[in-house]
Amino acid sequence: MGFVVTLDGPAGAGKSSVARRLAESLGIRYLDTGAIYRAVAYRLDGEGISSQEEEKMAESLASIKIRIEKEGIFVNDENVTGSIRSARIDRIVSGYAASKAVRGALLGLQRAQADYGDLIADGRDTGSVVFPGADIKFFLTATPQARAERRYKELLRKGEAAVYEEVLARIHERDDADSRREIAPLLEPPDSIRVDTSPMSEDEVVHRLLSLIKRRMTQDID
Ligand code: CDP
Repeated sequence: MGFVVTLDGPAGAGKSSVARRLAESLGIRYLDTGAIYRAVAYRLDGEGISSQEEEKMAESLASIKIRIEKEGIFVNDENVTGSIRSARIDRIVSGYAASKAVRGALLGLQRAQADYGDLIADGRDTGSVVFPGADIKFFLTATPQARAERRYKELLRKGEAAVYEEVLARIHERDDADSRREIAPLLEPPDSIRVDTSPMSEDEVVHRLLSLIKRRMTQDID
């Protein structure tokens, strides 16, 4: 296993944009574990299987092959990257992510990504379950209002019609579902570094994390 950085936290804390920039600066691979859950939700939903149907999900998952490539994320041979960030998937993904069949099926795939070299992974349980032995773990958080405001602005930038109150309500719903589920809930690993990003710009978060990671990397070499 190479050098592994994990970044967990609730929706809208800025994990994926920060993780992507960190991976670029460090020249290491980025694993977006949320995209894997989204891809599975997209596929199962498309097959008409609900997140309550454990057996059907397990059956379908046995015939699904997920590949993570430079061009995006593939389910069997379909590149689903463009379809997994829709409002519908936002609404239904946490239901599928709470399933034992789904989480069990995806664990090996995520862990295997560290076999190919250094890695930065972001999600909800990357530091607690997927890579408990990671070299450095972060927990990124922010107030629900700050997170909702970022999502709201992001949607407006994308040209989507959005209502702030609805975005905030969805953030609360997903926080709730992700923290209360039985398997691998969103939690703050005790050995992680907590960063409250509410008052920080994205640049400030990137610089702070980058300096902490670099310090840890040189400690490991010494
Ligand atoms: O980008 P955002 O934080 O909104 O979401 P995401 O990282 O794309 O994750 C989407 C959903 O997948 C989350 O709300 C969780 O329900 C689930 N997820 C998870 O259960 N475990 C992970 N390691 C990553 C995501």
